[in-house]
Amino acid sequence: MVQLTLLVVLFVPPTSASETAPDPSVGAQLFRDNGVLCHSKLGMGEGYLAMAIPDYPTTNLVNTSNTGDRDRILEVVRYGGSLTGISTYMPPWGDELRPSEIRSVIRFIRRIRKQDSGTAVAGSPMDSADYREWRLPTQADEPEYNRSTAERVALGKQLFFDPMMSKDRDISCASCHDPAKGWSDGLAVGVGHRGALLTRASPSIINSAFNKIQMWDGRFRTLEDQVRGPIESPTEMNLDPAILEERLNERPEYIAAFAQSYPGEPMNIDTIAKAIAAFERTVIHRNSPFDQWLDGDTAAMSEAQLRGMDVFMDEDKGHCAVCHSAPNFTDNGFHNVGLDQQTTDEDVGRYKIKPIKEVWGAFKTPIIRDVALTAPYFHDGSAATLSDVIAHYRKGSSPVEQVSLNMKAITISDQEASDLEQFLHALTSEEAPFEAPVYQTFAGSAVD
Ligand code: HEC
Ligand code: HEC
Repeated sequence: MVQLTLLVVLFVPPTSASETAPDPSVGAQLFRDNGVLCHSKLGMGEGYLAMAIPDYPTTNLVNTSNTGDRDRILEVVRYGGSLTGISTYMPPWGDELRPSEIRSVIRFIRRIRKQDSGTAVAGSPMDSADYREWRLPTQADEPEYNRSTAERVALGKQLFFDPMMSKDRDISCASCHDPAKGWSDGLAVGVGHRGALLTRASPSIINSAFNKIQMWDGRFRTLEDQVRGPIESPTEMNLDPAILEERLNERPEYIAAFAQSYPGEPMNIDTIAKAIAAFERTVIHRNSPFDQWLDGDTAAMSEAQLRGMDVFMDEDKGHCAVCHSAPNFTDNGFHNVGLDQQTTDEDVGRYKIKPIKEVWGAFKTPIIRDVALTAPYFHDGSAATLSDVIAHYRKGSSPVEQVSLNMKAITISDQEASDLEQFLHALTSEEAPFEAPVYQTFAGSAVD
C-alpha cells in the first residue's frame, strides 16, 4: 500500500497545450501503474482493464461503470477492498490522487466501458458528470433560530434597501451591495458615512449564504452576526441601534411586519439582523453558462470557455480551483496571494483576527460566480479588470514568507490566459432584473 501511494504521488501526468482534462490516457496510465491485478487480462498486471472485463463480468468495476455512477467509482477508487462488497485485493488509492487524476481515472473507466459495450465515446472531452461537486445547492443552510419564511425574507428585503438604516438616512446596505452592480458597488473601496472611504472593497453578497465565514478577514461567522457591523460602524452607516429601533417604532408597516415575522420577539437589532440574513439567503445565483453546462447543456459554454475551464481546474495550468474550490468557488480559507499591498503591514487581513504568521496579510478566497460584474478586484480594489487579475497570477508574487503555500507562479500561454478570462465570464448568472424597493434617500424624507 505504501508503494502504491508512492507511485501515485510520483506520477506526473504529461501536459501539452492542446490537452483537455480529464485525459483518459492519464487515467489509463494510473490504472496500470497501480497494478489493479484483478482487472487485467492475465490477472498479473499485464494488459489492462479494457480487455479484461469480459473475463470478469461480475466485478464491481463492471457494475459501477455500467451505471456510470461517479460517486461510486470514486468511492471504490479511494477505499478499494475496505468497502463491503469489494474484493479485499482491490488496493485503496486513498486521497493522494489529485482531483484531475481522479477525474482522469473515472473518465478512463467510463470510456473503456463504453467501448466495451459498443457505445461510441462521448464527443466532448469534458464531461459535466465529472464536475458534479461544482453544482451549487438551491438553498443554503439556515440556523435553527432563524428558519426562513416568506414574511421574514420580505421584511429583510425592505430593511436591506431602506436608507433609514443609516444616521443621515442616506445609505442602505444596497448602497454598497447594489443588485445593479453585481450586489457590490463598482468601487475600489466602499464609501460610507459622509463620504468616508473604507479601507477595503465591498464584496458582492451573491451566494454569501454559503460562506462558512464572513468578511475579507472572517471576523464574522454568520450572516446574522455580520449585520450589526456596518450599521454601527462610524465610517459606514454610523447608526446607534437604539435610534434605529426608535425609527422603526414610528413606522406602522414595520411594526406589523416584525410582529408577523418574529412573533414574541422584540423589534430590535437582533430581529433586524435575522430578517436581513433571511433575505440575503435568497440572493443565490446558480444559473450561469457554467451552471447550465453542469446541468448537461453541452452547448452552454463556448469552446474557449471550456478550454478556459480546463486551465482553471488543472493544477499544472491555472491552478485556480485549489483555492476557488467547489461548489462555491471558495475554500472558505485565507490566503496571502502576494499583492504588493500584502507585503506591507498596512492591512494584515486575517492576522489581525488570528495572529498566526501563516495568515499575515491573508484574505478570504472570494466567491467568483458573477465576478465579471464586480470590478474592480481584490480586497483593496487594486486590479481594475479580470485580465489584470490573471496577469497578477501569471506574474507570480514576490516571494515574501507569508504568501500562501498554494500560490505558485503559473505558466500559461497568452491563448490560455484569454481562455481563462472567457471562463470567468461564463460564471455570470442569467437572472431576471431584481426589483428593489424604492425609497427616497435624503435626510428628512417622506418615508418617516
Ligand atoms: C459603506 C459600504 C457598505 C455598507 C453600507 C454595507 N456594507 Fe457590507 N460590506 C462592505 C465592505 C467594505 C465589506 C468587506 C469589509 C471587510 O471585509 O472588512 C462588506 C462585507 C459584507 C458582507 C460579507 C460578504 C462576504 O463574502 O464575506 C456581507 C454579508 C455584507 N457586507 C452585508 C451587508 C449588509 C446586510 C449591510 C447593511 C446592514 C451592509 N453590508 C452594509 C461595505 C458595505
Ligand atoms: C492560494 C489560493 C488562490 C489561488 C491559487 C487563486 N486564488 Fe484567486 N483569490 C484568492 C484570494 C485569497 C483572493 C483575494 C485576495 C485579496 O484580495 O487579498 C483571490 C481573488 C481572486 C479574484 C478577485 C475576486 C474579487 O471579487 O475581488 C479573482 C477573479 C480570482 N481570484 C481568480 C483566480 C484565478 C483565475 C486563479 C487561477 C489563475 C486564482 N484566482 C488562483 C485565492 C486564490
